[in-house]
Amino acid sequence: MTTGRRPHTCVFGLGWGDEGKGKVVDLLCPAFDLVVRFNGGANAGHTVCVGDETFALHLLPTGVLHDDVIAVIGPGVVVDPIALIGEMDALAARGVEVAPRLRISDRAHLVLQYHKVEDQLAEQAADRDSRIGTTARGIGPCYADKMRRSTAVRFTDLLHEVGLDDRVAAIAESRRAALCATYGDGGVIDVESIVKDVALARERLRDNICDTTRLLHESADGGGTILFEAANGMLLDIDHGTYPFVTSSSTGPHGIGVGAGFPPTWVGCAIGVAKAYSTRVGSGPFATELCDDIGDRIRKRGKEFGTTTGRPRRCGWFDSIACRYAGRLGGVTDLALLHLDTLSGFEEVGVCVAYRYEGETLTTPPASASVLEAVEPVIEFMPGWCEDLQGIRNFDDLPQNTRNYIDRIETLVGVPVSIVGVGPERSQTIVRGRLADMIDLKRLGPATHVTQ
Ligand code: GDP
Ligand code: IMO
Ligand code: MG
Repeated sequence: MTTGRRPHTCVFGLGWGDEGKGKVVDLLCPAFDLVVRFNGGANAGHTVCVGDETFALHLLPTGVLHDDVIAVIGPGVVVDPIALIGEMDALAARGVEVAPRLRISDRAHLVLQYHKVEDQLAEQAADRDSRIGTTARGIGPCYADKMRRSTAVRFTDLLHEVGLDDRVAAIAESRRAALCATYGDGGVIDVESIVKDVALARERLRDNICDTTRLLHESADGGGTILFEAANGMLLDIDHGTYPFVTSSSTGPHGIGVGAGFPPTWVGCAIGVAKAYSTRVGSGPFATELCDDIGDRIRKRGKEFGTTTGRPRRCGWFDSIACRYAGRLGGVTDLALLHLDTLSGFEEVGVCVAYRYEGETLTTPPASASVLEAVEPVIEFMPGWCEDLQGIRNFDDLPQNTRNYIDRIETLVGVPVSIVGVGPERSQTIVRGRLADMIDLKRLGPATHVTQ
């Protein structure tokens, strides 16, 4: 049994995704033996910039970029095997050989072509107000099949189910009929090619499939350190996010028990990632959204276009109400506050400190999407900074106004900022020494500058 201090760590998003989780995971990876994805699927797009090279990871844990790290796809991930194989091949072509270090849970579910078709058709058929703006990666339909059980396909089935191909063909046929009946269109479902996809998944991924739950437990028992990489963001959580404009999984540390089969009580450090402003892709309420020149300026400076779909991200001021809520849900111990460099050049920067709704002041987000849509943000403005931050590596070298801004966010959210992002590159990060209480920062190597 694991005893004593538990160094296992979770990196998760405090917003609606794209907070910079990939960058933080990549930075911390050298201090861990295993990196684990436990929720979502190819809807995720985690970017890592190393020197002149940029990598965008969708299904593979960001840890695969580090030779010594075992990358694990846990039971709670919905895996499109064709997308995964494509991602592995693309990395191999760039000199990153993933297969020997990748473990896929035998309990994880497969996303097949009919899930993606259903996702697209449902979105096309929805009216403007109820359209979620999904990534069309088949995430919702696959999780629905998982809950329905009889129509689900898991990785263990690839190895052990006699007659799986016939069952998949039957599911695909009946899905086509159901989609035709609902949407008048189901023709793009190609049963033969879906069965071929299953065969390819079996052939290419067979050696990677294993009992990852046991692997994690044994690793922890043996003193191994585990980094959990959440996908999406807390505000997209199926239970706690801005429902129904959410994704279909548990997107924070609470998802580790469900999605990795690992006790959340063994995770000692929960690093919540947030940008110095807010972004959202897809539909749904966004209290601090700026549909004006300022929003456009943030989008341009921050290069705010989706990693998975290329869609422009909606931009707005930092929302401390949403961030504090997300942090509390996740038991956040440390904040990683990124993109401070993007806010350089603004005369003043805004932070939302409350919502106003029908004459009342709200300090936590309401459950109803229509109420949240109608709230008015109370914005506090602070003096901005004009200095270029991208070359700064010491916290104390940041401009006073930037430090004041960080202090204000720490106070409002109630959690210390332990990592500061001043650019997209791996090295453009300020890691504060207090993280050493939980993470062995010496393992990060000399390229990572640790400051007070
Ligand atoms: P994720 O899904 O949470 O991993 O985030 P994405 O990779 O989708 O989006 C974050 C974007 O911000 C990526 O393009 C990163 O390269 C970039 N990024 C991360 N941190 C910083 C930062 O501190 N400054 C700037 N300018 N870009 C950053
Ligand atoms: P990462 O891991 C940003 C959003 C979609 C849509 C909603 C539901 O890169 O932060 P889905 O395809 O999951 O059914 O879409 O959730 N969404 C994300 N937005 N980053 C993500 O992942 C997202 N994953 C899902 O835009 O609004
Ligand atoms: Mg992303």
